Amino acid sequence: MGLIIENITKSFENKGVIKTVLKDINLKIKEGEFLTLLGPSGCGKTTLLTIIAGFQSAETGSIYLEDKIVSKPGPDRGFVFQDYALFPWMTVGENIIYPLKIQGVSKEKREKKLEELLNLAGLKGNENLYPYEISGGMKQRTAFVRALGSNPKVLLMDEPLGAIDFQMRHRIQKELEELWLKSKKTVVMVTHDIDEALFLSDRIIVMSKSEGKILGDLKINLKRSRDRESLEYLELKKELTSLLEKALKGNDGFTEI
Ligand SMILES: Nc1ncnc2c1ncn2[C@@H]1O[C@H](COP(=O)(O)OP(=O)(O)OP(=O)(O)O)[C@@H](O)[C@H]1O
Ligand SMILES: [Mg+2]
Repeated sequence: MGLIIENITKSFENKGVIKTVLKDINLKIKEGEFLTLLGPSGCGKTTLLTIIAGFQSAETGSIYLEDKIVSKPGPDRGFVFQDYALFPWMTVGENIIYPLKIQGVSKEKREKKLEELLNLAGLKGNENLYPYEISGGMKQRTAFVRALGSNPKVLLMDEPLGAIDFQMRHRIQKELEELWLKSKKTVVMVTHDIDEALFLSDRIIVMSKSEGKILGDLKINLKRSRDRESLEYLELKKELTSLLEKALKGNDGFTEI
């Protein structure tokens, strides 16, 4: 059960040069686990996430969700985009319910689901506002519950806090954690922020830039909500920092900036 990533390889050709971004990636993600893919820019995090989502295909390997191969996008996998991708001409409520409308869910059921999702996200009373009228955190929560609308088995999030400014990040990370704890979903999140990964994840996968490989696989057993000043937290942060430094090294051993 859960999500299985088996022997995924993916290359891109750029001006005649073939670059392997992911090479024989294998991962087993447990049901309910919050797993983060951490790595420097360009290491293939989004590529792997979109392969899981079925937005693009791999050259080799398969993705299994609860023992079934998935190769196309489906309602069993919800996606939260980096910039939320909310429709600016739709209200919060319309945005949240849009995927269900597309799926042909009846109006009555949609309205019921909207109530449930607005309550979950603490957005009740804001459903008639437009994205430009709400804060970054509210946008983030809107995108999160929109992805939960079809009751997916897995939630895929590509840098879901990428657009949140630094001062707000800690608060929004806590909000995201609370929403996830309530939703009990399996999550695969992408980030290049060590602190974000450490605060939120049950498990962190560190991806390397040069070889498309996994450099580290760390279980984070710290009690939630995590104390960023605790010794264990700071030690793990140190370990991740050194792994990320390795992850940044190019094939030639030089660090790319
Ligand atoms: N469609 C494509 N065609 C050609 N090259 C691509 C394509 N998609 C991704 N790449 C390349 O694959 C590599 C990995 O890209 P990817 O977007 O997965 O990285 P990332 O880890 O998500 O980076 P970031 O943190 O900057 O979002 C990059 O070198 C990128 O240029
Ligand atoms: Mg990316």
